[in-house]
Amino acid sequence: MKILVTGGLGFIGSHTVVELQNKGFNVIIIDDCSNADEKVLEGIKSISGKMPEFEKIDLKEKDKVEDFFKRHEDVKGVIHFAASKAVGESVQEPLKYYENNIGTLVYILKELSKKNNANFIFSSSCTVYGQADEMPITESAPVKTAESPYGNTKQMGEEIIFDTCKVNADLKAISLRYFNPMGAHPSAKIGELPIGVPQNLVPFITQTGAGLRDELSVFGDDYPTSDGTCIRDYIHVVDLAKAHVVALTRLLEDKNESNYEVFNVGTGTGSSVLEVIASFEKASGKKLNYKIVARRAGDIISAYADTTKANTILGWKAESTLDEAMQSAWDWEKKIRKIQD
Ligand code: WQD
Repeated sequence: MKILVTGGLGFIGSHTVVELQNKGFNVIIIDDCSNADEKVLEGIKSISGKMPEFEKIDLKEKDKVEDFFKRHEDVKGVIHFAASKAVGESVQEPLKYYENNIGTLVYILKELSKKNNANFIFSSSCTVYGQADEMPITESAPVKTAESPYGNTKQMGEEIIFDTCKVNADLKAISLRYFNPMGAHPSAKIGELPIGVPQNLVPFITQTGAGLRDELSVFGDDYPTSDGTCIRDYIHVVDLAKAHVVALTRLLEDKNESNYEVFNVGTGTGSSVLEVIASFEKASGKKLNYKIVARRAGDIISAYADTTKANTILGWKAESTLDEAMQSAWDWEKKIRKIQD
């Protein structure tokens, strides 16, 4: 069975391709390589033993999207990762985000709407909740005004899919609201490859540990939390990848309760920035060089998932702990920087 993975050369996409292949799916990847390298295909093959099909396509080109679906009528499901995802950049370049994240989604949904049985998994984010009023966060928590155009594209994306599914019973979709993905495949053959200075905490930590960065800036320790630093739900990228395969299978086997469903994908455990630093120090045996600086604009205080719905209805549960995820992140960093223990 052929599955299209857009953005399949990216961090979460590549790990999901491996898990799909492990379950016997044939995968074709579309990626424009704007934020990922074709060499990732070798990494995927070295893990699963299977080279996925790959087409370098810019999904903003409507005619190319139409042509792809004409040539691949046997695609049974689509997992859509392709999107721009830098929160800060989205504030500076909103139209780049609306064109890339919304425009491409519309083109793909138009193609799926032509099929008489389409299955679609959307990469959404806990960002849609903003600062939720209650922890842990359930799927029924209100969606709040987005803090960034990036977050808005995730909210709008969910609404576009919901409206499309409402008028098209043949289209089944699931939005997965990710919490904070981290780590790398235990083989250390694929992992996160941030371009330039990492915006996210964990790659900045591992790059500091590897000596690429002088020190980590901790954005504020005066929050109303146990140790004053922000709380997030850090989920191992392999656990997150497996959630996509479970969600897709749910649709392919018609187990869905309605033709549009939403699931939080997190561990259900919150960790502070200082706890993540401590986890790195345990994994690496190194003291991390960091300093406390001013808060980062737009940061929320706390976000961690209520995973009841994913655990009971979707039938998926995260397996890795923060320490295991951090160990995989550090092993990957050492591999790509050729650091011997
Ligand atoms: C985590 C914590 C920072 C960097 C973002 C997106 C979200 C999702 C995950 C895509 C915060 C602190 C960070 C640093 C720090 N991405 N931090 N120093 O902001 O929770 O979520 O990435 O879907 O949509 O919004 O992740 O890793 O940037 O920050 O102190 O150098 O680490 O203040 O408390 P975030 P993050």
